[in-house]
Amino acid sequence: MTDRANRNSSSQWQSSIGFIAAAAGSAVGLGNIWKFPYITGENGGGTFVLFYLLCIAVLGLPIMVAEVMIGRTSQSSPVRAFQRLSMGNSWWQVVGALGVFAGILILSYYSIVAGWGLHYLLLSIVGGFPQDSNPQAYTDLFDSLVQSVRLNIWWHTVFMGITTLVVLRGIRGGIERFANWGMLALFLLLGGLAIYGTTLPGFFPAIEFVFGFSDNFTWKSALEALGHAFFSLSLGIGAMLTYGSYLKRHDDVVGTSIAIAIADTVVAIGACLVLFPIAFSVGLEPSAGPGLIFINIPIALLQLPFGQIGLLVFFLLLLLAALTSAISLLEMAVAFFIDSLGWTRTLATSTMGGFIYLLGIPSALSGGEGFFGAGLRQILGMTWFDAADYLASNWLLPLGGIGISLFVGWRLNSQQRVTEFRDGSRLGSWQWLYFLWVLAIRWLSPIVIVLVMLYNLEIL
Ligand code: TRP
Repeated sequence: MTDRANRNSSSQWQSSIGFIAAAAGSAVGLGNIWKFPYITGENGGGTFVLFYLLCIAVLGLPIMVAEVMIGRTSQSSPVRAFQRLSMGNSWWQVVGALGVFAGILILSYYSIVAGWGLHYLLLSIVGGFPQDSNPQAYTDLFDSLVQSVRLNIWWHTVFMGITTLVVLRGIRGGIERFANWGMLALFLLLGGLAIYGTTLPGFFPAIEFVFGFSDNFTWKSALEALGHAFFSLSLGIGAMLTYGSYLKRHDDVVGTSIAIAIADTVVAIGACLVLFPIAFSVGLEPSAGPGLIFINIPIALLQLPFGQIGLLVFFLLLLLAALTSAISLLEMAVAFFIDSLGWTRTLATSTMGGFIYLLGIPSALSGGEGFFGAGLRQILGMTWFDAADYLASNWLLPLGGIGISLFVGWRLNSQQRVTEFRDGSRLGSWQWLYFLWVLAIRWLSPIVIVLVMLYNLEIL
């Protein structure tokens, strides 16, 4: 493998900072800012956070290294990467293909939630929130958005449109440039909000909630933390693999993976340190569920000084985070069509952007009374949106995670595994780190993931 030429340079990152920004941009998303705070709230805080950090370090990071490594070594998109490195054994290509499918599916409903963020961004700009602080008014506002076919489709169109435009411009001119600026802005916005958070009376209770021990931590919480660690790091379906394939042959894999995981974690914890002080300052419960950022935060912020600006900054932050993640999901599908089928970027991006747009329409309709919403709920017990999320998050991500771990842990020959781990990285030459990594991808991660899946099937 080592003698393979690099890709041509326009399909490679300009710098390793660019790679870290793009990959951290993929990882930092709605998962960090929307979901992590509310599941932390639901699971009681501190102990959940600690367990989540453990999952990131012990399982997430090793798989991230494995994924980025497969990409860099093969210089190929998911399906071809497995094809090349397994010397044509077609079973492994299924792992790549399932990943591409999962990425397409995730983006189709991710765009709907991002669309709600866009709508709230507009409301914060034009001052369209209810005048009184009656919670019911805010709940109604959110419910009517979720139920509105017209608004959901409109914002889905806008969001997919922007995502497609960035991906059309390619690796360097589109994705890398957007990620560099976007991530810089994101950290500034988050930092600004966190400083604002320290001035609020709810700051110390919030610190205690996020870092103190809590007693309602259960098995179910543990599984939720694990599953979310995967989702948050964008692992299991070849998104990091695709970005890794735009590295040069001897770029650092271990060090950059660590940087990405740290950035992702900082934003997740940072989001909690923004949202909980706000919620506690006006006496709201942290366990508000999915409506936390769309209902509780506007209610709370608008009662606080500079709340209007705070809201604007917050939804801008949410949008940036969602966009850089969506870009990575679309890029993965696009890379597959370019690499495996020889399409041009323009053709692949417009076709995939259009296809994912159409696939998202049932999700856009899921809040309504029609077939994809209320209808399916009666038949399946969940809407199309819920079913897509359930299939992707609970099954496709963990399955892909097992596939990647087993592939790097057992299928690559040990010579190649060692060489690739060391190549380009100072940390890679640390013997004990290599040992721990192999332990994690060979044994720990497949076993733990299988246990989680059995639990999901209610066998455990
Ligand atoms: N990690 C992103 C988030 O936290 C979502 C995401 C982007 C993702 N690409 C992915 C999740 C690939 C799984 C796989 O919101």
